[in-house]
Amino acid sequence: MQTMMVRRFGTAAVVLAISAAVACHHANTSSTLADQCFTAMMPAAGEDVAVNTIGGGCAAQAVPAHFPPDWRFKAGESGTFAPTAVVASNSALASAAGDEIMRAGGNAVDAAVATGFALAVTFPFAGNLGGGGYMVIRMADGRTAAVDYREIAPLAASRDMYLGPDGKLTDESVVGYRASGVPGAVAGMSAALAKYGTKSLREVLQPAIRLAAEGFIVDSVLFTSLDHNRDYIERFDGKKLFYPNGEPLQPGTRFHQPALARTLRLIADRGPDAFYSGEVADSLVTGMKRGGGIITKEDLARYKPEWRQPIVSTYHGYKLLTMPPSSSGGVTITETLNILETFDSLPPFGSVAYTHALASAYQRAFIDRNSKLGDPAFVHVPLDKLTSKTYARELRKTIAPDRATPTPVLERTIADGNHTTHYSVVDGAGNAVTTTTTINNGYGSGVYLTGPGFFMNDEMDDFAAQPGKPNMFGLVQGEQNAIAPGKRMLSAMSPTIVLDHQGKLLLVVGAAGGPRIITATSQVILNVIQNHMTLADAMRAPRLHHQALPDTLRFEEHGLTPEVVDSLKAMGWNVDPLRGSANVNAIMRANGGWVAVTEPRDRGPSRAVGH
Ligand code: DON
Repeated sequence: MQTMMVRRFGTAAVVLAISAAVACHHANTSSTLADQCFTAMMPAAGEDVAVNTIGGGCAAQAVPAHFPPDWRFKAGESGTFAPTAVVASNSALASAAGDEIMRAGGNAVDAAVATGFALAVTFPFAGNLGGGGYMVIRMADGRTAAVDYREIAPLAASRDMYLGPDGKLTDESVVGYRASGVPGAVAGMSAALAKYGTKSLREVLQPAIRLAAEGFIVDSVLFTSLDHNRDYIERFDGKKLFYPNGEPLQPGTRFHQPALARTLRLIADRGPDAFYSGEVADSLVTGMKRGGGIITKEDLARYKPEWRQPIVSTYHGYKLLTMPPSSSGGVTITETLNILETFDSLPPFGSVAYTHALASAYQRAFIDRNSKLGDPAFVHVPLDKLTSKTYARELRKTIAPDRATPTPVLERTIADGNHTTHYSVVDGAGNAVTTTTTINNGYGSGVYLTGPGFFMNDEMDDFAAQPGKPNMFGLVQGEQNAIAPGKRMLSAMSPTIVLDHQGKLLLVVGAAGGPRIITATSQVILNVIQNHMTLADAMRAPRLHHQALPDTLRFEEHGLTPEVVDSLKAMGWNVDPLRGSANVNAIMRANGGWVAVTEPRDRGPSRAVGH
């Protein structure tokens, strides 16, 4: 196990959701009503009923959620209502950047890119230029696309590069100059903008440039995050900027980032080439080389984002558009929901039987994830099989109604032997974007490059640096995800769009949090479409997690009643607390507009901004 396990990656995720109403005849300022109204439209699982809508809104009441008595959140809260457009991300300033662009006539893609660049300034924990991500787009005219701007292994990378002389894993895939993949963020966002945006890169970069050049006021969230990550960042060159006078940036002070502002201006002037072959590339390569890094100018020059077809799946008549490999997110969510759909009706939320069904589905989907998925440019990925309903029915047969199956037993039958940030956008025309981006850990590899002014990722740890041995997230992955030069490391990022039975945009969702991204994103979706919760409740509902190995069902403290926990143990489940859930940001259609809910487990007010 690597030494950096103690580092905080739980919050290194950004989910941004931007959305705008297609038809908002009834601007409704009651967020509770809007929120409840929308979930109330959901037909019961398996029912194929017509939705009762009025002017793009809905008519019935939501089903109240029931949480365990000691659970930290109460049901019945509301989200942020916006009649026209809204962005939900981990930074209110970044959400406001997207909102500003939409107010100026930009569409959801323009806003998503503006938010993405602004996050690199205001949320250095996970927002980035030095990382990568995934974006799923659905335009109102029905076009869909997925942009894979995941980092790739440098050309000088090799299969065993993180093994020490004793054959054991070192921590170099997690921390320091050798932990970084070649960044894809600037290329990916620029490509999405060029194809689906309406504004120039220069225009959408303006809010980010302003925030970097003129500065922004440090809040307690940034202060605390810097304080927590101090030992780590201070080892590298970010010390002076983030700890002036030896202390973290203080709340209430103005924080300027002139180097980053300069980099952003260069990108605005010369496009992504400024980053991949121009001045920024020079400065990045020099800075990395100085610390023993292996990224070269050739690596940067040959980086290309990939356009992919989103995975399209269904769950009881709802349609999901989600991210295909090189992320595992879409496949694993699809496989999980397909297994759950084989149940005639799922038991009530929070019950022993419900938890057993969910955990069993995750366990099986993660076995496939960990052994069969990898970069499709390098390995064969059985995508059609894994996402098929037939295969889900086969897997269902391996679930005993009253017993947990140990992962090693299942692996023999199923396996073939062999701080992130998410944002979502919907605009007034009904275009939707959902994006997750990351530098992996909070503040990535810890390496801050003073020249271009940003943190580099530690994404190399998402590879199976030693197949069969756990990575930082405890994921035990196989040969399919072994390191090779130019290869994308497997991700769990799961940006997802859900359409209702009429094909209308319903939910824009995604998360940060390593493998918990998959389980948390799918549980928010299930809570809405299966358990009929309002989005606010769906986000607050207690979450569980199972990733096959370690063979443990994890649940949030007090998220299951003691009686349920005892029953699960009696069924053979290893049950343990889930420390730190994922960080989800989501938007859902509501009566006369949109409701956005940013992660309730984060402290502070909602970070969604809309109009
Ligand atoms: O791509 C992945 O699956 C990971 N690099 C995501 C890391 C993450 O979400 C960090 N956490 N909060």
